[in-house]
Amino acid sequence: MALFRGNLKYSDVTAKADFLNRRQIMAGAAGLGTAPFIGGAAQAKALEYTTTDYSVDVDTTPKDDATSYNNYYEFGTDKGDPAKNAHQMKTDPWSVEIGGLVDKPGNYGLNDLLSGIALEERIYRFRCVEAWSMVVPWIGFSLSEILNKAGVQSGGKYVAFQTLNRPEEMPGIGWNPRFPWPYVEGLRMDEAMHPLSMIATGMYGESLPNQNGAPLRLVVPWKYGFKSIKSIVKITVTEKEPPTTWNKLAAREYGFYSNVNPEVDHPRWSQARERVIGGGLFGKRDTPMFNGYGAEVASLYAGMDLKKNF
Ligand code: MTE
Repeated sequence: MALFRGNLKYSDVTAKADFLNRRQIMAGAAGLGTAPFIGGAAQAKALEYTTTDYSVDVDTTPKDDATSYNNYYEFGTDKGDPAKNAHQMKTDPWSVEIGGLVDKPGNYGLNDLLSGIALEERIYRFRCVEAWSMVVPWIGFSLSEILNKAGVQSGGKYVAFQTLNRPEEMPGIGWNPRFPWPYVEGLRMDEAMHPLSMIATGMYGESLPNQNGAPLRLVVPWKYGFKSIKSIVKITVTEKEPPTTWNKLAAREYGFYSNVNPEVDHPRWSQARERVIGGGLFGKRDTPMFNGYGAEVASLYAGMDLKKNF
């Protein structure tokens, strides 16, 4: 199926029977008064956004792959560890502390934070720095919506993010004590305000599984996956470029920007091609500049040397 040639709906990428079935199950759960459903297909509207000039056909990654082949070091470093261990993380109640150069700092409960924000579905390519890729139907909204809610002050030039740091629920923290916990990430303000930068609360028509960063995570589709920080508890607007976890660990290998760029290799491997998860033995393809989102985001980097600012 050809993606990115027009508007897509979740019902286009999933077997219809599955889709209807899930909606019925969701309706049943709501009737029984179980946990509130965040990020549901019922609330999601298809993204009315026509992407890019990139014309290679790609399929949406099977859900089982996207939810069982994960990077979430707080639950272990093997790809299967997060799916095995992330159920230990309590995501309710959840709040996000928003601070720094904002008009309305505070500890926002999840419902407060999401109130008045419409959820939509967005099918994005996702490219990990390890040279594998997926295509994921996320549910969420533009990050700018919560930044605008908090009111960014004129001195705010960057946005810093932090993941939950709860070793008793996140066994990978104890297994890897020298890793600089908590996981932190950052964006320049214009990147954060770009409409493609999103906060996801769901995927595949359901709430986000814990291993994918419940209850809310960042998704920045033109950057390597490690920028898309999971299970966010803190957002701080800053004047200076904030530290980021992988840059702290290996500055020569992971820059602050980390835009997907097939012309700038990782010091230890090429970034020209990628392995398509769920694509089988021969599922390799060329990696496009900015992961195929150049038409939307290249102007953010006009005049910058992307080999230096990798
Ligand atoms: N966020 C936290 N807190 N911890 C992590 O280890 N891994 C990153 C990113 N966000 C990571 C994280 C990396 S390297 C990738 S590729 C993506 O999450 C993987 O997201 P996925 O498991 O939903 O595919």
